[in-house]
Amino acid sequence: LGNNLALTPQMGFNDWNAYGCNVSESLIKSTALAMHDNGMQAAGYQYVNIDDCWLTHNRDSSGRLVPDPAKFPDGISGTAAYVHSLGLKLGIYEDAGTMTCAGYPGSLGHEQTDADSFAAWGVDYLKYDNCYADGVNQSGGGGPSAQSRYTTMRDALAKTGRPIVYSLCSWGRDNVWTWGAGVGNSWRTTGDINASWGSMLSIFHSNVGLASYAGPGGWNDPDMLEIGNGMSATEDRSEFSLWAEMAAPLISGTNIANASSTTLGILTNSRVIAVDQDPLGKQGVEVASSGGLDVLAKPLADGDVSVALFNENSGTATISTTVGAIGKTGASSYTLTDLWTGATSTTTGAISASVPGHGTVMLRVTGGTTGGGGGGSTTGEVHAVG
Ligand code: DGJ
Repeated sequence: LGNNLALTPQMGFNDWNAYGCNVSESLIKSTALAMHDNGMQAAGYQYVNIDDCWLTHNRDSSGRLVPDPAKFPDGISGTAAYVHSLGLKLGIYEDAGTMTCAGYPGSLGHEQTDADSFAAWGVDYLKYDNCYADGVNQSGGGGPSAQSRYTTMRDALAKTGRPIVYSLCSWGRDNVWTWGAGVGNSWRTTGDINASWGSMLSIFHSNVGLASYAGPGGWNDPDMLEIGNGMSATEDRSEFSLWAEMAAPLISGTNIANASSTTLGILTNSRVIAVDQDPLGKQGVEVASSGGLDVLAKPLADGDVSVALFNENSGTATISTTVGAIGKTGASSYTLTDLWTGATSTTTGAISASVPGHGTVMLRVTGGTTGGGGGGSTTGEVHAVG
């Protein structure tokens, strides 16, 4: 979306994955403070986002949305003021239908009124859901298409004059990736994630082939991070690696104030974040995939290429590729930096690692020149050993 926002994928927190409907001002404020103090803000996490259930069930006599005064005693504006005082930004949630998924008033037909409220309150980010519209959770169907409903809110937000990141929670509807870049800063490509290996893996498979639609200002969104919510640490590192390699929004969905050092260490790995946030803004592509062993390559602005060696299987395997397969050429030696350990090594061309079951080895490849956009190649080979 040409609003000059999310030129790299947005980073932040959203309460839904860890708390569901239990959102409140105190949760948002304490999470913001924790992000401020625990290194997440310094690592690039900026948006503190409220999800569903922040509203009362009725609009006021002027037709405006009313934040639940029990959950948000200082309102959204008071919450925003606190979040802003920490140098962070506030996000909110609404729905492009008659109700939110949890049954609160939706924005369909009220787009300008609601966009004006968000801007007046100091909101910096809108996640716009898709319940109770166009036949979703609604009998009959019909009504305006997802594209037209999402476009109406895009225009309402623009009219406020306030910079507001616009995140389409569009569940892949109407092949949103084909029109999302003109409408939003990101678009959900799938249904909801949950904190399980199977969910994470299937969402990865749905999102990984959509690289050509993503770029600065408009990103494929494979849903929020489940790191810290129940997968193993190896699986959590895989989610973070794959989301970074796919230039996905990095929206933590865990209990930040109580996050373990392992969880925080994953979420704040600056080498992996740099891949996600690389200014070239290319989503990585699968250059080889065979038997559950995948090689992804993402070209970076400085000419390096980030490589993810992803083992979908449960046993340890060796995954191998070459500098040529990931789009590099022209040097007698290349440097490989392991983005999780920080260790460096050199190679004349072979790239290979032993990868634990459900694990990902992430490497940054430096040297030579980058040809073919680092992703056009399908000549990589995957060798499983043991
Ligand atoms: C569906 C969305 O996909 C979720 O991320 C979350 O926002 C819920 N709705 C809230 O009801």
